Amino acid sequence: MRIQQQTLKRVLPLVFAVCLVSTPGVAEELNFSDSELSLLKTFATWPPSVPADPGNEYSGEAWAEELGAVLFNDTALSGNQSISCATCHQSEHGLAETTAVSVAGAQPHVRNTQGLLNVGYQRWFGWDGGADSLWAASLRPMLSEVEMASNIEDLANTLRRSNTLNQSLSEAGIDIKHLNDEALVVAVGKFIGAYLRTLTSHETRFDQFVADLINGENNPAAEQFMSISAQRGMKLFFGEGNCFVCHFGPNFSNGEFHDIGRPFFTAVGQVDPGRLAGIKRLKKDPYNLDGYFNGTKEPSDILKTTSVKTGQITFGQWRTPSLRNLLSTAPYMHDGSLATLREVVDYYADIDPSRLHSKGEAILKPNNWTSSERNDLVEFLKALSE
Ligand code: HEC
Ligand code: HEC
Repeated sequence: MRIQQQTLKRVLPLVFAVCLVSTPGVAEELNFSDSELSLLKTFATWPPSVPADPGNEYSGEAWAEELGAVLFNDTALSGNQSISCATCHQSEHGLAETTAVSVAGAQPHVRNTQGLLNVGYQRWFGWDGGADSLWAASLRPMLSEVEMASNIEDLANTLRRSNTLNQSLSEAGIDIKHLNDEALVVAVGKFIGAYLRTLTSHETRFDQFVADLINGENNPAAEQFMSISAQRGMKLFFGEGNCFVCHFGPNFSNGEFHDIGRPFFTAVGQVDPGRLAGIKRLKKDPYNLDGYFNGTKEPSDILKTTSVKTGQITFGQWRTPSLRNLLSTAPYMHDGSLATLREVVDYYADIDPSRLHSKGEAILKPNNWTSSERNDLVEFLKALSE
């Protein structure tokens, strides 16, 4: 009886929604112009192929990916033996944490834990782009005092005792005894990096909608994938809102850094300068692509890192996040300061252009959107989740 009532509660709103959409007179059908369609095509076909992890000689090797998955969940990689990557990057939350800033590490963090799905499409890693490869971004948390708080020597001692690691390495023809402590720890970063590259998310309602639209040219069947409200929101995203300019391409991220005017104070008198600090960190990092441990020495990878420059404009910039699977990765922004998608949309709609520190972001301007238009945009963002 209870189950039946619950099922009814779930099914009734659905039936109601279907009636609303399919009743003539009530249903509204949106058309998409040729220019809208050609823009949508640049966001189509999910998932695209993932580039190799730069400088990682194990990238794409199945054994390294499998080993990386095991290591990702291994608490032995932390100083106190109780924190693994998965402690913060939780699979039930899109590989993110649910708190505004990360609290699960050795010390409280000032930033929000990033979800790791689709991370392989990025060129720079971390909110501030402080790492230039997945393996360097995987190595850092093990050594960071704030995150897993271990060190090369302790890590190497633990790793040398691991049966899984010894077995996988010997199967791959690598003699663990020939690796010094640092090389062994770097190799572990590379195995985990190889694994992270495989974490692509599945097709969403948006992907099905766009595929259908492109094949059928304004095919009303596409409606089964995205509600009219979500479609109206999509028009705002690609139109008036200019959201697509930065959240560009199938992963909804141009991979670049922008200032959207979020606060940069982390405590009284303390600031998080974003990209400016990220570039400084990158340049000093012994594990960057310009360093000894780059295992592939691809000239274009090295150039990426040697040519990037700090400048006042980089203060307060953050990497454009992907907008896929936002439903699992709340709260939002580098400091987790916005709790819901509606708060994010309200922030953009009511944006104060004088708060944008770097002058470049003229594409961001306040919009006079009504509450229901804002809701449409939220519905669209939801359609980008699995
Ligand atoms: C204490 C929590 C915590 C732990 C443990 C942790 N991370 Fe993270 N991770 C974060 C936070 C916070 C960020 C954002 C950091 C920043 O912007 O500087 C992040 C960012 C990342 C990124 C960059 C994602 C992107 O989109 O650019 C990668 C990759 C990553 N972590 C991998 C790992 C791996 C691999 C491990 C284990 C070896 C790990 N993390 C352990 C909290 C954690
Ligand atoms: C100028 C480039 C730019 C434009 C235009 C832009 N964004 Fe963003 N967006 C960003 C950046 C950068 C961040 C991260 C800011 C931070 O962490 O402080 C972000 C963050 C977000 C987030 C949070 C994602 C997360 O995982 O935390 C959402 C949602 C979002 N934007 C949606 C939109 C929507 C909707 C629009 C259009 C109304 C839009 N963006 C326009 C650059 C942009």
